[in-house]
Amino acid sequence: MPQTTVLEPLQADQWFVDSPDLREFVATAKDIISSTTHNRAETLNALEPHFAALLKKENWLPKNFAQSNPDSGLGGGIGQWLLYRSQDRSLTIFSLVIPPDEITPVHDHLSWGLVGLYQGKQEETVYRRLDGGELEGQAQLEVVGTYQVKTGDIYYLLPPDNDIHSVKATNVFAPSISIHVMGNDIGSIWRHHYHPQQQSVRYFRSGYSNVLFKENPHIAV
Ligand SMILES: [Fe+2]
Repeated sequence: MPQTTVLEPLQADQWFVDSPDLREFVATAKDIISSTTHNRAETLNALEPHFAALLKKENWLPKNFAQSNPDSGLGGGIGQWLLYRSQDRSLTIFSLVIPPDEITPVHDHLSWGLVGLYQGKQEETVYRRLDGGELEGQAQLEVVGTYQVKTGDIYYLLPPDNDIHSVKATNVFAPSISIHVMGNDIGSIWRHHYHPQQQSVRYFRSGYSNVLFKENPHIAV
């Protein structure tokens, strides 16, 4: 098990993409999140139409945030580009860029979230853990379902349900791009990478493609 990492608050909100559309969405999201703290399903329901409107808008995501990353922490050239992170790390927005026919590791998120397809097509395979264990080492998983996701589609992450999945880009030529709105600093926390066939699990931190990852686990990233 990794050493406990205390993520210190940041000095201020971080904007990696400066877009009026993104700023408007974040302001709305903050209002909704703070008024629905008692019920995160309600948070997701209230956020969804605003997120859908953002996904439909064009030209707010710069090309640098829509490209693959050969040095990816997720492997397969998958880019994970941080767009926005709140000062207290309780809200992050990032783009996940999966090259054609590549697939993410089977992973969890450990937070509520919304995922929306900005470009292309994906196949999402959702898993459920059968042993309920938290230990690093053994893990028994079963497939809950496999879903086809197309541009404009949105799905919910609401642990413990539907929190373990892998995502494959089913585009032939261009990468698929999904936008993630998460209730944690997902690139900086320790979470789980599963190997269903070997029935094993290990801890990992994915990092972000555009944020330096400090080696010392006690230093916040
Ligand atoms: Fe995911």
